Amino acid sequence: MAIRKIVKYPDPILKKKAKPVTKFHARLHKLLDDMAETMYDAPGVGLAAPQVGILKRVIVVDIGEGLIEIVNPEIIEKVGEQISPPEGCLSIPGLIGDVRRANLITVVGQDRHGNPLKIEAEGYLARALQHEVDHLNGILFIDIAERVYRPEEEERG
Ligand code: NI
Repeated sequence: MAIRKIVKYPDPILKKKAKPVTKFHARLHKLLDDMAETMYDAPGVGLAAPQVGILKRVIVVDIGEGLIEIVNPEIIEKVGEQISPPEGCLSIPGLIGDVRRANLITVVGQDRHGNPLKIEAEGYLARALQHEVDHLNGILFIDIAERVYRPEEEERG
C-alpha cells in the first residue's frame, strides 16, 4: 500500500465527472488499498478517487465504524434532511461549510470484486457517502453549501 498525493482545490480534475469501473482486477484493488491508507493518514472520513487524481467511480468511507469501499456507487433513495454537522474536505483544507443533505439514503454499487452491494445509511454516514458520491460528479461541498467558513470563525461565534 502507499499514501497517494491528495489533489487540492482548485485543481480542475476535481470538477470532472469520473468514469465507471469495468475491470475489477489488481489495479483497482491497489487503488482501493491506497485510498484507504491515504484517508487514514490524512486523517479523514472519506475519499473519492478523483481526489488522488484518478477519474474512476470509486469511494472509501470510514466514520469510525469500519471501512466501506464502494465501486460505481449510486444513491437510489434519499429521505429526510440534515444540515449539521458542518462538512470539510481533504481537497479543501481550512474551510468547512453547512451543507443540506438527505438524512437517510440507500446506495447501490459493487465491491472490489464486482459483486453487487447495497448500503442503507443515515446521519453522519449518509452525509459522508453523499459527499464522496458528489466528488465523482465533479461537485464539491463549497459548490452546494449554504455557508462556507473557517472553523475558527465558528468558535468565535
Ligand atoms: Ni471531499
